[in-house]
Amino acid sequence: MSEIALRNVSRQFDPEHYGVKDFNLDIHDKEFVIFVGPSGCGKSTTLRLIAGLEEITDGELWIDGQLCNYLEPKERGMAMVFQNYALYPNMTVYGNLAYALKIRKVPKKEIQERVHQVAKILEIESLLDRRPSALSGGQKQRVAIGSAIIRKPKAFLMDEPLSNLDAKLRAQMRVELLKLHEQLGTTMIYVTHDQTEAMTLGTKIVVMKAGYIQQVGAPAKIYNNPINLFVAGFLGSPSMNFFKCRIKAEADNRVALVMEESGQGKKFYLSDPLTKRMGITANGRQVILGIRPEDIYDEDGARELGIMDQTENMEEIVVNREMTGAETILYFDEQNKTHAVRLKPENKTQTGDKIKLYFDMEKIHIFDPETEKNLLYREEVQ
Ligand SMILES: Nc1ncnc2c1ncn2[C@@H]1O[C@H](COP(=O)(O)OP(=O)(O)O)[C@@H](O)[C@H]1O
Ligand SMILES: [Mg+2]
Repeated sequence: MSEIALRNVSRQFDPEHYGVKDFNLDIHDKEFVIFVGPSGCGKSTTLRLIAGLEEITDGELWIDGQLCNYLEPKERGMAMVFQNYALYPNMTVYGNLAYALKIRKVPKKEIQERVHQVAKILEIESLLDRRPSALSGGQKQRVAIGSAIIRKPKAFLMDEPLSNLDAKLRAQMRVELLKLHEQLGTTMIYVTHDQTEAMTLGTKIVVMKAGYIQQVGAPAKIYNNPINLFVAGFLGSPSMNFFKCRIKAEADNRVALVMEESGQGKKFYLSDPLTKRMGITANGRQVILGIRPEDIYDEDGARELGIMDQTENMEEIVVNREMTGAETILYFDEQNKTHAVRLKPENKTQTGDKIKLYFDMEKIHIFDPETEKNLLYREEVQ
């Protein structure tokens, strides 16, 4: 069992500077939770607060119904795995795995059994006699994870554990971590700055920025229903496109978003339900329109979807083209930024060519430029 609850937890480093502020989160037994956000947003600090390696200056940390603010790290039953392995270089793999049990005076026979059991799970049985210097990065990381597993902790706290591995190995280890989580059923809190990793690993992700939680939820829910401009832009690759627009009330109660600056004359019509959901649609109001690359279509795609009449005059020059096999990504410039469109591989538009584009207006997001809040955010979806 491990239920971890953080209530208004803060870590203040000096009078004006917080590592994390007012952090509120419930982590349930067996959950795989990801803290994600750019460097310096407070992910490691929060993890260290849970582990007891950092002092909580305000708020409460509860583990299994017990207030833990002042509990020593070893009394909290957490196991940390770091990015730089933290293995003892002069001990063998066996010694490294056995170490935590030895200092807890676990009988030798039981240590032997548990080392072999863990080595088997991680497929490192053949490496038990080697020293860390004779291991690859991936193997070292397995041993580091093994020495955490062997202690049967209440929860694993992992701080960017895969960031020193190359891309291929990282992808493979992600799959293994998921399997491991399923096999052990132990709560995991995993820190990463990599949004792809967060999207693929987590059942619950916590998006952070500058010491504050921005949004908590299942990856797909946050992706489809971001609470603000930051979250919308942070998750997804290529990231969401943003266009400065102005609201224009037209005849027959139609409401259009008219692109500003370089995009003069390009128009996108809101559906009635969207207009209602947005609340204030005052004529002339400035907004930011957000749309993901996969929600923009070429002529064929737009005709198929029946969305051709929602976009006017959106013709763009392709500045770059990427063909991945499964899709074609085209790039175009507008408002001094490069934007992306994800199309079917059949689209043969080349760099330098013009292309007509159509927005799926059911998939757009509208942000207030002042508050950066998503005006179409749906509370009930979270
Ligand atoms: N011991 C410390 N003293 C002062 N500031 C710190 C200390 N540790 C971290 N910070 C600051 O707290 C913020 C969050 O840091 P951190 O939790 O390491 O971010 P992340 O892990 O998300 O990159 C950063 O601005 C960092 O500089
Ligand atoms: Mg960190």
